[in-house]
Amino acid sequence: GYKDSDPVAAKQDQLNQFTISDEGTQETTQFGAKINNSDSLKAGLDGPTLMEDFMMREKIMHFDHERIPERVVHARGVGVHGYFESYGDYSNITAANFLGSKGKKTPMFVRFSTVLGSRGSPDTVRDVRGFALRFYTDEGLFDLVGNAIAPFFVHDAIKFPDLIHAAKPQPDTETPQAGTAHETAYDFFAEFPETTHTVLWALSGRGIPRSFRQVEGFGVHTFRLLNNKGESHYCKFLWKPKAGLSNLLWDEAQKIAGKNIDFHRDDLYTAINKGDYPEWEWGVQIIPESDVNKFDFSILDPTKIIPESIVPFQPLGKIVLNRNPDNFFAETEQITFHPGHIVRGVGFTNDPLLQGRLFSYLDTQLNRMNSANYMQLPINRPINAVHNNQRDGYMQSQIHKGKVAYFPNGLQSNTPSMVDADEGGYIEYPERIRNVTKIRGRSSKFFDFYSQAQLFYNSLTKHEQQQLINGARFEIGKSKSLDVRKRMIKSLNHVDNDLARRVAYSVGVELPEKLYENKNKTSVGLSIEKYPKADNI
Ligand code: HEM
Repeated sequence: GYKDSDPVAAKQDQLNQFTISDEGTQETTQFGAKINNSDSLKAGLDGPTLMEDFMMREKIMHFDHERIPERVVHARGVGVHGYFESYGDYSNITAANFLGSKGKKTPMFVRFSTVLGSRGSPDTVRDVRGFALRFYTDEGLFDLVGNAIAPFFVHDAIKFPDLIHAAKPQPDTETPQAGTAHETAYDFFAEFPETTHTVLWALSGRGIPRSFRQVEGFGVHTFRLLNNKGESHYCKFLWKPKAGLSNLLWDEAQKIAGKNIDFHRDDLYTAINKGDYPEWEWGVQIIPESDVNKFDFSILDPTKIIPESIVPFQPLGKIVLNRNPDNFFAETEQITFHPGHIVRGVGFTNDPLLQGRLFSYLDTQLNRMNSANYMQLPINRPINAVHNNQRDGYMQSQIHKGKVAYFPNGLQSNTPSMVDADEGGYIEYPERIRNVTKIRGRSSKFFDFYSQAQLFYNSLTKHEQQQLINGARFEIGKSKSLDVRKRMIKSLNHVDNDLARRVAYSVGVELPEKLYENKNKTSVGLSIEKYPKADNI
């Protein structure tokens, strides 16, 4: 039927089944009795309200339970519907069905967010922006829970709680709120040099975008693509706004935060309502398995990028965002993005940050949604049918037939059958792991903290560097602790002496001496040449 030929309509259809309009209807209780509840039931007009008042009990009870916990990070966000359109048939590199033919459309939901602020915090604060993509593919959900900044602060999931505790408001005072500088954050950054690269991205214009329509998106981790033959390539996912990049000036960002905290949200809704649909080219950087050791850093280290000057961006399709949600809570708040929502043709790698995320999202969403059945919510349902032996739990809304809910079984044939990779099931990559010792540590290839920070700084134009310096002066200068300011200057001095001196000058720290001759790095010293665009895809 049309569901196969038009998956975008199929998702809309599925949502429509749960969408309610109250226009021209009559008021009822939740259990369907028609009522007039404009006054509560009392013992006489001036008397006390009666416990018997079922209308009031129900209405107040429901109201009392309207709130659910906000996301522990990325609480503040805005989500919209759209679709992905594949530019071609990429089956030689991935078995992912949504990339299987030219013109194939896949429905999407996309959520932009800040990381640190609470649900009601201003949009234009300096922060990393979350840029989470959900593809409702014919073969299940593919969530690419990305950011608008390419590298990440820490390389190992076990450090994520430290990062967030340092950057969120302090536990003693719950200050500073979003939009003001965090002494504890800069204390942590100064202590933990692997953060330096990402800190520079966040201090640049990328930390204060003008519009969500003009930010780049990054999957951050290195992933795998697997084709039907089981052949694997490493890849980075990234997506580029057709409208180009643009950012606010720090002064503008602060003023807007005071005047319209919904600035980015309004901008996105308004553009889509007007029919001015933002678009991104979505694609990959591809690295053959055999080349993984040619990089002088680990491609499993998410604090590093793979420069496009070496491995080119290859667009595989486009994202179009074209419909605002009908209900913020039901759609934007209840969506549960999870890097573990993966499809045939895509695989994980041993990136230690990604590995930890695979636990975190499932765990946190169980807390946030308070039921193991949250994937049954309309916004979370895949467009293809779901069949397995999972049963019961709070808020179960499916009625499963039959007496058998286990496998294997010989009693009944109508339970789902298992699907191997060669029959269209998920393809596991048979990575060889041998001769290893359990160890808490990291490979030596994770230890170069400054080359890419330098590369990033040197990639900026003079006025972009000035913006970064202004950002750093504001953020570091707000730290009351002289020691934190000194340590941050020391850290910046590893990146660039001129940068460190210009910031030091305004934050009351002695100007640092040059550590080494400024190499003016424009490459990361790779032992490989620039990759040609792969012509086989
Ligand atoms: C949201 C944990 C790293 C992007 C979240 C949430 C948690 C979390 C608990 C809230 C999810 C929810 O309640 O639905 C972590 C951990 C990380 C990590 C433990 C590192 C170990 C990253 C990285 C990225 C990222 C590297 C970017 C590539 C996002 C985004 C959201 C999010 C975009 C918001 C999703 C939405 O819009 O609903 N993260 N995160 N996170 N995270 Fe992470």
